[in-house]
Amino acid sequence: MAHEEHGKDEISTGRRTTLKFITALSFILGLGSAAPLLKSITPAILEIPEWPRVRLANIKDIKPKTWYLFSYPTRDIPCLVIKTGKNIPSGIGPDKDIVAYVMICQHARYYGTIYIPPKEERIPEKLTYLKTVPPNILELYPDKNLLYCPAHAAIYDLEKDGEVLAGPPFCSLCRVVLEYDEASGDIYVLGLAPPAPAVPGVTQCSSNPDELKRIMLGKKLVSEVTLEEKL
Ligand code: FES
Repeated sequence: MAHEEHGKDEISTGRRTTLKFITALSFILGLGSAAPLLKSITPAILEIPEWPRVRLANIKDIKPKTWYLFSYPTRDIPCLVIKTGKNIPSGIGPDKDIVAYVMICQHARYYGTIYIPPKEERIPEKLTYLKTVPPNILELYPDKNLLYCPAHAAIYDLEKDGEVLAGPPFCSLCRVVLEYDEASGDIYVLGLAPPAPAVPGVTQCSSNPDELKRIMLGKKLVSEVTLEEKL
């Protein structure tokens, strides 16, 4: 009797081993058949495209202290370019005074930020949009080129890499990298510089270059930009 039971034990152990082997084999074969599928999915997730290099304008198209809008690197990201009239470390052009920034506020993704030129440049009939800015904000930094966010009164310094001068933003504005071709006078957009702008799918304020490029994933990139003068 004891001998019979021992025999049964051996049989069931043998069955378990066979079952384990079959399961492991099916798993390996399964992986093999899924490999082409995995290969086709992985690059789509990891491949981060390069910044598109596009012509922005010719130097002759950009008037001083005028607010121009454009979209980059995708149609849904608003940027502005300004000829500030001041020599700035990151400025380009013959006077090193042209800068560009993503206009989205680094606090809570407000898209309606407002350019404020230095006081002496504020021509009332031209700058009608300034009527929406509280008078105390207009007086706060009279000599500077600023970007103002009406959502929670943030102020950014466009002469100092978009640094936060006042309000609740978590970091500076995202700067648009420009290049000036002295021979032709053409200005090109080369990409964005950290910190990353506050757009969905990106870690806001990240200084990781790949993280910054995530805004382009799966989207149609601009191949040309059009300047729109803001009156
Ligand atoms: S969203 Fe701009 S200050 Fe809050």
